Amino acid sequence: MIKSLIHSMIVCPDMTKDYPKIEYGSGVYLYDKQGKRYLDGAAGSSSVSNLGYGRQEIIAAATEQMSKVAVLPTHAFSAEVVERYLDRLVNFAPEGFKRAWTVMSGTEAVENAVKLALQYHQLMGEPNRYKIISRWNTYHGNSVFMLDIGGMKARREAYSKWLNNFPHISPAYSYRKPEGMTEEEYVLSLLKEFENTIIEADPETVAAFVAEPVVAAAMGAVPPPEGYFKGIRRICDKYGILFVSDEILSGFGRTGKNFGISNFGVKPDIIAAGKGISGGYFPLSAVIASEKVVTPFVDTKSPFLGGHTFACNPVGAAVGNCVLDIIEREQLIQRSKEMGDIFLEKLRGLYEYDIVGDVRGVGLQCGIELVQDRETKEPFPKELLLSKKIGERSIQKGVVLYPGRGSVDGVLGDHIMITPPFIIDEEQLETIVSTVKDCIEEVSVELKQFTK
Ligand SMILES: Cc1ncc(COP(=O)(O)O)c(C=O)c1O
Repeated sequence: MIKSLIHSMIVCPDMTKDYPKIEYGSGVYLYDKQGKRYLDGAAGSSSVSNLGYGRQEIIAAATEQMSKVAVLPTHAFSAEVVERYLDRLVNFAPEGFKRAWTVMSGTEAVENAVKLALQYHQLMGEPNRYKIISRWNTYHGNSVFMLDIGGMKARREAYSKWLNNFPHISPAYSYRKPEGMTEEEYVLSLLKEFENTIIEADPETVAAFVAEPVVAAAMGAVPPPEGYFKGIRRICDKYGILFVSDEILSGFGRTGKNFGISNFGVKPDIIAAGKGISGGYFPLSAVIASEKVVTPFVDTKSPFLGGHTFACNPVGAAVGNCVLDIIEREQLIQRSKEMGDIFLEKLRGLYEYDIVGDVRGVGLQCGIELVQDRETKEPFPKELLLSKKIGERSIQKGVVLYPGRGSVDGVLGDHIMITPPFIIDEEQLETIVSTVKDCIEEVSVELKQFTK
């Protein structure tokens, strides 16, 4: 164990573990130094390698652009490749979106999106609007500002003295709605909580509401109940609040639509996209803004006060253009929907195990929640590290999953998210399901010994 500390300079992941060293990837598979093959059911960390590994076409596009020009003095120049890409991004977004720019990480994109919202209100003559409302059990990035806006208790804890500047509301989590409530009553109660939070915060100080359309790592692919986002949109409009959709994980086809929010019949004001936007071939993310948000900037000729060294990078644009070409040519968004439906059906077979409490998802963003008792939905003690154990077992068996904890209240609750590349086929989906099944069977035996 100590060996890994001596031999590895990596400090972020589990310090007690020796990680297999990956040599290369091809299609949906990764290969380590010993030649062992892993089916990547997470598509990177997670929902990144949506097009699979080793796409020579993207590598060629990046190399060609690098050989022309790899970076621009963006204070002085633009480039055709960048302009073309930004135009395509706008067209990839729902109708009514007008401007886009790229940055490098999801964290930067969501942060840019809420900064854009703030500046929009200033230009509209409402400089007092600065508060951002978001939800518990959600993740919007790892800068201190994004941790504050996000709602993952475990990730926030160490920085708590720097945080707690903004209100958070409850997640929309049908599986754990209060006993005896209908779905409709539940949605109404969530919307009431949202409206009350706005009123309490003083509506004229609220700039934006931020949400993941399908909550990813913090909860394990939880979609909203019917009508939830329509209600959120109505309330945002009523109080002049901008709606930011964090599409870092759900965007670019993951849910079977260009953007996750389009599954729920509403349009946000600003979209933040990342991860799969480049298929993992370049650190790339983007902000896409609607006409409403862009108009005061254009009318007053005010620039957005963003700006990063690698913003609107030409290599990122070349990669992004190529990713969009492939998505269109291979109809990968449609494939994500079709394979997602097949996958969810297969995953529902796991209900044969009592510890599988909920199977959920949209498109190829799927998740499983594990419980001690299916009737009461009681989660496992956190000390058991159940989802982590399943994730580790699964890697030994050659399948990468995305385990997580805290779905119930930020601390308790084991879930596993599975977000394979869109190019996955039915047989490979079956391999994932049967591996999860084997892992669940094995841990179930251990759990029986634990509860004896
Ligand atoms: C929904 C969501 N928003 C934001 C982020 C932050 O993205 P990044 O890790 O690229 O900074 C993530 C990353 O997992 C995410 O899933």
